[in-house]
Amino acid sequence: MKRKPEPFKIKMVEPLRMTTREYREKALKEAGYNPFLLKSEDVYIDLLTDSGTGAMSDNQWAGLMLGDEAYAGSKNYYNLVKAVEDIIGYPYVIPTHQGRGAEQVLFPSLIKKKGQYVLGNMHFDTTKAHIELCGGRAVNLVTEKAFNTEEYYDWKGNFDLDKLEDFIKKHGRDEIAFILITVTCNSSGGQPVSMANIKGVKEIADKYGIRVFMDAARFAENAYFIKKREKGYEDKSIVEIVREMFSYAEGFTMSAKKDAIVNIGGILGIKEDVELFNECRARVVPMEGFITYGGLAGRDMEALARGLREGVDFEYLDYRISQVAYLGERLREAGIPIQYPTGGHAVFVDAKKLLPHIPYYQFPAQVLCNELYLESGIRAVEIGSFLLGRDPDTGEQLESPLEFVRLTIPRRVYTNDHMDVVADAFISIKDKAPYLKGLEIVYEPKVLRHFTARLKPIE
Ligand code: F0G
Repeated sequence: MKRKPEPFKIKMVEPLRMTTREYREKALKEAGYNPFLLKSEDVYIDLLTDSGTGAMSDNQWAGLMLGDEAYAGSKNYYNLVKAVEDIIGYPYVIPTHQGRGAEQVLFPSLIKKKGQYVLGNMHFDTTKAHIELCGGRAVNLVTEKAFNTEEYYDWKGNFDLDKLEDFIKKHGRDEIAFILITVTCNSSGGQPVSMANIKGVKEIADKYGIRVFMDAARFAENAYFIKKREKGYEDKSIVEIVREMFSYAEGFTMSAKKDAIVNIGGILGIKEDVELFNECRARVVPMEGFITYGGLAGRDMEALARGLREGVDFEYLDYRISQVAYLGERLREAGIPIQYPTGGHAVFVDAKKLLPHIPYYQFPAQVLCNELYLESGIRAVEIGSFLLGRDPDTGEQLESPLEFVRLTIPRRVYTNDHMDVVADAFISIKDKAPYLKGLEIVYEPKVLRHFTARLKPIE
């Protein structure tokens, strides 16, 4: 597969350390067989997340020196507002420390009573947690095509519009707090949502008088896919596509740690509802910080304003998405099952297909993550039953429909040669796959166990 060359050169480097297998065996055991608990310096290639792990440009680093650290009215805040207006077209902007900060400020204004539903294509886990903290219930209505990993489909992030309308009809609009469109849809594989689908969601929402918001962490990657795949958008600029996407919503929460290529930061944006904006501004002060900094330093807001503009550059996106696709292609050529086609930020390996002998309650994708670390010092993340957790009422382990190893590619950090190291590691594991053993939990906290639970191999 043809790779797009990097549209940048490297000015500063950070050394990586390769360890021995023996060293990694000890490190993994000490980490309770949970890669979240490994020390970063014991990792060779870190594909745990694309969140806050990107490399800032010289332009962003220069912006850090221009931080206006005033408590109120920092000029960097106004630069951020201008960037959001120029790219997304919304005038009302609240900075937050990261995406979940924006969620905790917005959701209490939208979930009006206990038990109301928030309908999404597929909610991210902290987003689901914030919905539940507000008394709401998170519902996923992604297309069934997302679950058939090996069959090609352009839009595996789309809502199933029939399911959406049926759900609204069945429960009634008063039971629905709002609709949240996650672009791209992280949990189904960084998969895009088409413009036609976004429009379709908006039409249904309007029919029943329901509000529409965006979870916009990877909005630029979504726009790139629309340009490449959707008829009528091939000659439009990324910014034109972004503006149209956001025109169908009335607000967004954004983890700026992804497409805006900063190490920390988030945004809550509102299109026209001044009352909602004022309500959120009142809430951001006790939760995140004053309305013009929301938990960020002035310099962070400057890097974010500049990163937003860099993140919508077509040449950059073309290189970025093709790097992820290249890794996916190499794995597919070697017969390793992945969510196909690859999405924006990661390659999702289908562990259920690779390790059919390990049942969901022994966490096949976690087993594969651990073997990848032992093989080559690569850290990936499990997106499957271990992440999903237990039924809150019965305590039973839930079965995830998909057991994924997510190889999440940080932005502008690893070279295409690194992608080959990852592919080669997987290829060596493939032959050992039938002999790998399941895991059992020895410690787990009650909520969000994924991050701190400890496990051990089943002998
Ligand atoms: N929404 C989506 C779609 C996300 O992927 C994330 C974070 C958030 C919201 C929360 O944003 O971390 O800035 O508070 N995703 C990261 C990941 C952590 O690894 O996928 P945050």
